[in-house]
Amino acid sequence: MFVEKLTTLNHNIVTDIDRLNQAIEAKFDHQISLSGTIEFPCIPSLLDLYIERISAIIKGLGKDRKNDHIDFIRFMIADHLEQGFAIAPDTCLKVTFQGTGKDGLRIKMEICSQTLDQRYQQWIEVREPPFFGEYPDAKVMDTLSQFSPHNSPILDIGAGTGRNTIPIARKGYNVDAVELTSVFAQELVKSVNSEKLPVQVIQSDILNPDCPVKNSHYALAIASEVISTHIRKIEDLRKFLTVICKLLQDGGLFLFDVFMPINDYIPEQKVREMGQLNWCCIFTNQELNDLFQEFSLEIISNESAIEYEKKHQSSDAFPRNSWFTNWAKGHNIFALLEEENAPIELRWLLCRYSL
Ligand SMILES: C[S@@+](CC[C@H](N)C(=O)[O-])C[C@H]1O[C@@H](n2cnc3c(N)ncnc32)[C@H](O)[C@@H]1O
Repeated sequence: MFVEKLTTLNHNIVTDIDRLNQAIEAKFDHQISLSGTIEFPCIPSLLDLYIERISAIIKGLGKDRKNDHIDFIRFMIADHLEQGFAIAPDTCLKVTFQGTGKDGLRIKMEICSQTLDQRYQQWIEVREPPFFGEYPDAKVMDTLSQFSPHNSPILDIGAGTGRNTIPIARKGYNVDAVELTSVFAQELVKSVNSEKLPVQVIQSDILNPDCPVKNSHYALAIASEVISTHIRKIEDLRKFLTVICKLLQDGGLFLFDVFMPINDYIPEQKVREMGQLNWCCIFTNQELNDLFQEFSLEIISNESAIEYEKKHQSSDAFPRNSWFTNWAKGHNIFALLEEENAPIELRWLLCRYSL
């Protein structure tokens, strides 16, 4: 049988193969259902990267958004990042997508934060003890040797599980160990009791005015991996130093570590934010000098922590754990190659308090 060719009065018939393929592809994209969650860290200075990553996902799956939608997403992300980062640097931004059909992409955002206690709880679940290393800091033990155990009370701030507290107490010094996190404070109490060491464990925030430490009492206060990991802003460091000056005896010493830029490097805001997220808080020479002028604290030494520890630890005690060197070299901030060096490093600062 012969079939007649159909004709129509409608002239807008598409027969161009490329256009038809394009239309088939568009239909295919509309019929993709998409749902998922992306968890981002909150780094406000990297806003453009969030937009790039999210736009790429949306576009890659054919859920193209108009520019005004992207502008709205940008506004929402910026707002959530500011809020999240202000709470804690490791607050996560959760972006949830759900999309079907041509325009049916819904995007939800929320921030999820943890207390420091919860953060450490999670941290130790994936690690083997001793969590901060087996050996005390050489710089701590060398500084300690300037004092007699009989009349030199020592304060270990942010004592953790006692990496420094216990070796100091074994030498006969009286130690007050202040630790914020309950799980570490409990561990420390167990170790102290089992060896009957002269240590008072105080579970508290050192910045809390009710923290039961003694004023004008300590010959040496140490804060190892505390300012470098948890003191984010110069205002927080100011509060910390105010407390230190209240607790030290006249002539007492304060030893702490902090990340500082090398040579004239000036860290951009995104570097500082990435540092805070990865437990590497950076303060410049200028910031520290200006701040120290407000206090009766004189900096008596400022040394590279890696170099000091390498030189003064026994060979089996350096590095004291698998992550110390990379962390102290700033590689938690910059994903550099092993042989490359970041423009920041961990430094030991020792200062003297005088009335
Ligand atoms: C990285 S750990 C170092 C522990 C120990 N100093 C060491 O070097 O092995 C930092 C410790 O400081 C504690 N910490 C942070 N901020 C504190 C604060 N404001 N008061 C008391 N402890 C604090 C944390 O809970 C954590 O145990």
